[in-house]
Amino acid sequence: MSTTYHFQTVKHIVHGPHSLDQLADKLALLDRPVRRIALITQPIMEQKGVVARVVQALAQHDVQTLVVRDVEPEPTIENVETVFAGQIAPFAPDAILSIGGGSVLDAAKLFAVRLTNEEPLRQWLGVDLIKRPGVPLVLVPTTSGTGSEVTPNAIVTLPDEELKVGIVSRHLLPQLVILDATLTIGLPKPITAATGMDAFIHALESYISTKANPVSDMFAMESMRLIGANLVEAYQNGDSLPARQAMLMGSMYGGLALTAAGTAAVHALAYPLGGMFNITHGVANSMLLPHVMAFNLDAIVDRLASVAHALQIARHDDSDQAAADKLLARLREWTAVLEIPQDLRQFGVSEAHLEPLAIAAAKVKRLLGNNPKALGHEDIKAIYQRLLP
Ligand SMILES: NC(=O)c1ccc[n+]([C@@H]2O[C@H](COP(=O)([O-])OP(=O)(O)OC[C@H]3O[C@@H](n4cnc5c(N)ncnc54)[C@H](O)[C@@H]3O)[C@@H](O)[C@H]2O)c1
Ligand SMILES: [Fe+2]
Repeated sequence: MSTTYHFQTVKHIVHGPHSLDQLADKLALLDRPVRRIALITQPIMEQKGVVARVVQALAQHDVQTLVVRDVEPEPTIENVETVFAGQIAPFAPDAILSIGGGSVLDAAKLFAVRLTNEEPLRQWLGVDLIKRPGVPLVLVPTTSGTGSEVTPNAIVTLPDEELKVGIVSRHLLPQLVILDATLTIGLPKPITAATGMDAFIHALESYISTKANPVSDMFAMESMRLIGANLVEAYQNGDSLPARQAMLMGSMYGGLALTAAGTAAVHALAYPLGGMFNITHGVANSMLLPHVMAFNLDAIVDRLASVAHALQIARHDDSDQAAADKLLARLREWTAVLEIPQDLRQFGVSEAHLEPLAIAAAKVKRLLGNNPKALGHEDIKAIYQRLLP
């Protein structure tokens, strides 16, 4: 447990079903007037009619909107630069809005600061390298999710290095977040499973992080409690607004927890799977979770036991070991119920890739350093090996 810590978060969070309808009014909360806004979104939001609704509401408030739909899923650094140069910069918006999953929220965060900073994105890879604050940023997540709406992080893929890398800066925090769970109704089952697991992993990794602290613990616990109670329901009954709302809140709490404490080895080992084999972020993390936690178990039995109690899956007279074992069993159970892939071979991975995967994962030092147990090269390889049954 870390005794010194720093916590900073977003200025305004608006929450509730249909709260997106308040968007145009809530723009008044931003620290400067908005007349031209770039909306970074995904095609699905157009198909659902969300984009047309927002553009019309903004027009009624004399705000002109440029709709940007060319950010790729899990974007490469080149894709973000190209969309910036081709669409965002020429439009010169005075604010950025994003409605979508983590892929577009992350790109939107980078566009907002790219408008006020000259350097190419490559110079920002790492922590605290962005000099000036960006234009006002409004984020509306539609997966539950990355928690990106409340984190100071943006993740980009570097194809030449076959890796995903984080850009971390307080200037990436938005001024306004709108959490409207109605937007997540209809999220397909595999995405509900993968993004829901990702959110849970943010909380669990923050809770066991070497940087865990009282602030991150509070958000992590509430996140895991909400997700633990609602993930399977949201997956099996995707129209349930209460379950979707709990997942959206759980995902935001997960983002707050990771902002305060950081993720760890699950995320570190997931990055090369995304970078080398295009396995989506949530799927890569979900596949790794049970195996990384089994590796960590002896170092964090007490913490895993606390999580099992919060999820109400342990008896009060269970030993810590028994309770922690029940949590690991629950994680394996989720993997089966949520139909998370179990075999990396289906993504083109073979034994020959174990060595390069382990070398790439070892480079993700920022996250490996948060893990409660050190991972050597052979440990990392052994974890990947478990996903080649
Ligand atoms: N910034 C952070 O703190 C942070 C944290 C974790 C992950 N990430 C990054 O976020 C990205 C992943 O984001 P994601 O998991 O949200 O997925 P995503 O944004 O890539 O979206 C996945 C798919 O879901 C679709 N989709 C989104 N909302 C939908 C809805 N309501 N209904 C139907 N379809 C919908 C999208 O169009 C897309 O096809 C990765 O690049 C990852 O590295 C960032
Ligand atoms: Fe994640």
